[in-house]
Amino acid sequence: MERSSWSVKNEEVAEELSALMGVSDEDVGHLTALEDAAREQARPMTDDFYDRLFDHENTKEYFEGHSMDRLHGMIGDWFVELFGGDYGADYVQDRLKIGHIHVKIGLPVRYPIAMMDVVGKHGEIVTAQSDNPEAAKEAFKKIMALDVAVFYQAYEDNQLKHLSELVGGERLARRLLMG
Ligand code: HEM
Repeated sequence: MERSSWSVKNEEVAEELSALMGVSDEDVGHLTALEDAAREQARPMTDDFYDRLFDHENTKEYFEGHSMDRLHGMIGDWFVELFGGDYGADYVQDRLKIGHIHVKIGLPVRYPIAMMDVVGKHGEIVTAQSDNPEAAKEAFKKIMALDVAVFYQAYEDNQLKHLSELVGGERLARRLLMG
């Protein structure tokens, strides 16, 4: 059995997921109005983010030898882009690349997914400053869900690619992954 979702690849998931979740022009307007507020919130968010990861040995060890200033800046920008208003193919392509960077360092996917808790908490501090906080919060949740999906997609793409190479085709690889 084939599923039509299997043919959606790479940045094509932008359009597919936007449609699935119904990201509207109003959603985009609520979020872009908050871009400056998000920039203000970026450092508190990254402080919380790295405090949490440095409190646990299993996550802390990934940062040995990395410039934390650089990482604060990069994840701060990632956070502000959630309010950037452009969630098309380029956005998804960039986010997939970020996901792949985490695949490449051997990071189990449960950690980035769990860290969306911190992202969500600070996102809601930002959306509370909107003229229409409820609508802004709903819009923010949609984009965060898109980002969770794309992060996970990077991991799944990697598994499917390697398994497909090993067994000589994606169709068989998918069947194997179905258990
Ligand atoms: C919401 C979850 C996360 C987001 C949005 C995120 C975002 C980012 C971004 C934007 C970068 C810079 C990528 C680049 O160089 O272009 C990065 C790098 C990195 N992240 Fe994350 N990250 C997340 C979770 C984690 C977790 C849980 C860990 C480890 C426990 C981690 C470890 C790292 C490391 C070690 C790098 C540097 C990789 C390298 O340069 O080789 N990240 N992350």
